[in-house]
Amino acid sequence: MNYTIVSLQKVNEKSAIVLYLFENESLPNDFLKLFSLGDQKYLKEYMKNNFDGKQKTARFVVAPESGRKIFFIGKGDEKNFAFKKMALKTRQSVQLANQYKIESVSIWIDGLVVKGADARAIVEQAVINSELAAYEFTTYKQQEEKKTLASIEFIFQKPKTEYAKSIESGLIIAHAVNYTRELVNIPGIDMKPDVLAREAVKIAKDASIICKVLDEKEMEKLKMGGVLGVGQGSDIKPKFIIMEYAGGKKGDKPLVLVGKGVTFDTGGLNLKPEEGMNEMWMDMSGGAAVINALGAIARLKIKLNVVGLVPAVENMPSGSSYHPGDILTTMSGKTIEILNTDAEGRVILSDALTYAEKYNPAFVVDIATLTGACMIALGLRKAGLFTKNHQIAEALEQLGDAAGEPIWHLPLDEEYEEEVKGTHGDVANLGKYKRYGGATTAAMFLYQFAKKYPWAHLDMAPVMTPLDGEHLAKGAKGFGVRFFVELARAMAAKKIRI
Ligand code: BES
Ligand code: ZN
Ligand code: ZN
Repeated sequence: MNYTIVSLQKVNEKSAIVLYLFENESLPNDFLKLFSLGDQKYLKEYMKNNFDGKQKTARFVVAPESGRKIFFIGKGDEKNFAFKKMALKTRQSVQLANQYKIESVSIWIDGLVVKGADARAIVEQAVINSELAAYEFTTYKQQEEKKTLASIEFIFQKPKTEYAKSIESGLIIAHAVNYTRELVNIPGIDMKPDVLAREAVKIAKDASIICKVLDEKEMEKLKMGGVLGVGQGSDIKPKFIIMEYAGGKKGDKPLVLVGKGVTFDTGGLNLKPEEGMNEMWMDMSGGAAVINALGAIARLKIKLNVVGLVPAVENMPSGSSYHPGDILTTMSGKTIEILNTDAEGRVILSDALTYAEKYNPAFVVDIATLTGACMIALGLRKAGLFTKNHQIAEALEQLGDAAGEPIWHLPLDEEYEEEVKGTHGDVANLGKYKRYGGATTAAMFLYQFAKKYPWAHLDMAPVMTPLDGEHLAKGAKGFGVRFFVELARAMAAKKIRI
């Protein structure tokens, strides 16, 4: 999509104007001035009879004299208009424009302004959300239904040149989110650990950062018994992806991002039932988010050292699979007693969290489609956040809201620790009370390997795919990239204390 900033006088006459209005809000005078008196009268009359400004109301109108096209989009009650609604409204307008086969729109930016946010952030968000709404997974379709919308201009009373930078950064971030969605959407038959690793190498190359991929032999040397154990049931061997971006000062402690890269999760010998296996080609969502977050952070030139670690495996049942009852020795030396081969994410992440120690990190955040229990706890609108530090938790929740990726702090108190103790191994990969508190026991398991640095864990199982009404295409949501970009920005600007 092509983006420009225009002043009122320079609005493209051929493009459809998008105007967002609250309940009981009348048409702005500056907007009316774009029309002949006849059109003005018609529009006022039309609005009186057909538009209530409610959240769900949207109208497409053609002004009779000029033939100019207009979308009127309701924003609901003014009191409830927040950052997240502004994102939804932007996406809605892009979808509407495509629905009406419009090629270019002019967005009345005043209508997207949210209290407390500066204009640059609004432009960046408008670009990101337009791109997210325009994406669809069409790689496997013979006939792609062409989207018509190709250009968007933002109408400002006083355009500033710095807004061009926001368009640029918005495009970098949106590209990273949409590429995450693309990788996650690729089905299990084509997305294997080596494919994910190759994608990471490509993304790193494009962003001029370092990427190393460890194969089985190198993992054996490092004694990564967790990754190797889970991976041994598949014909396709696991990989361990390492990306390093040196945007900060030499010697400054890095932010380390860790992502679960299970390219397909059958459950292993504890095979998932039919409904449970649906969508399990998306079990590398966390890994894809980390890989693309590194790409975006580097391209945005954020002044911070950042590392990405992604253990990539396929969890399959076969003659060589790991079994329930197996005891695996991880890179940390700790042993894991496998009680269920379907709780594989935490097992592979244990080695990645140990590997992270080597960087002496300022902060480690892992992200994983880890538990169905987190979906039960939170529903499908927020990811679970786990950390020992309540102050960090609050700061991260705020970052999540600002990034448009809400997260919610769940418990990780020490009492839960005894629930993940093994009988014959050091830690068990299933909590003592099984389903109860499953998201917390999974987090507590991870914590056993993350005690040497400040750490937080995101369980993104609830937000792997979008809900109706989010104005996003079916498939992967690409959650995590925007959160990590905001985290890196906040750490670089020392706006967050870890
Ligand atoms: N990948 C799944 C979790 C998941 C479920 C993600 C649904 C997204 C949507 C994970 O590996 C898993 O199978 N977890 C089990 C853990 C259990 C065996 C302790 C679960 O949640 O049922
Ligand atoms: Zn599983
Ligand atoms: Zn899984």
